[in-house]
Amino acid sequence: MAVIDEVYALAAPYWQTRSNEIHVPEAYDLAKRLLAEIPEADPAIVLPAILLHDVGYARVPEEDQLKGLAGAPSGWEPDITRRHEVEGARLAGEILAEVGYDAERTRRIQAIVDGHDSRPEALDLDDAVVKDADKLWRFTENGVRIAHAWVGRTPEEFVDFLETRIEGWFFTDAAKALARTTLTASRAAIARDRA
Ligand SMILES: [Fe+2]
Ligand SMILES: [Fe+2]
Repeated sequence: MAVIDEVYALAAPYWQTRSNEIHVPEAYDLAKRLLAEIPEADPAIVLPAILLHDVGYARVPEEDQLKGLAGAPSGWEPDITRRHEVEGARLAGEILAEVGYDAERTRRIQAIVDGHDSRPEALDLDDAVVKDADKLWRFTENGVRIAHAWVGRTPEEFVDFLETRIEGWFFTDAAKALARTTLTASRAAIARDRA
């Protein structure tokens, strides 16, 4: 088994909360699409980091999980955001050690996981691609269907909101372009629901 598939198999049990069993595999696919456009980024950093970025939610009580989101109707508690990052970085270290991952790359992956939501700037291009793939998922059909409720908006309001965030959220031009085409498809899918 390729090492990335071993990481996938060890990370997957931690996705069974907060719709991460949908979010993470789709964000992983989006990361691969970005990597195809950004050859300077390192797949050996980006791909494990996206698979592991949210494993820490498995260590946050379910009733607190939606507080880890700016704009949540329940109120945003930044320490919940931090808890899933800190727990995630620790679990990422354990999983990567279990598969015998390179120590220097493991440290860089842990640093990405540790600030994937709370750190506004990207540490480097690999971090930027992970941050972009994570946010891009909200623009997908499943992302809109799931995440609109997290912030107390209708799906239509949510896609309009996402459109205003493209320039501000994304670091890479590849992600901005993918966000636009993905949002067009999601908007059409939602309109079909209403028709
Ligand atoms: Fe997260
Ligand atoms: Fe995420």
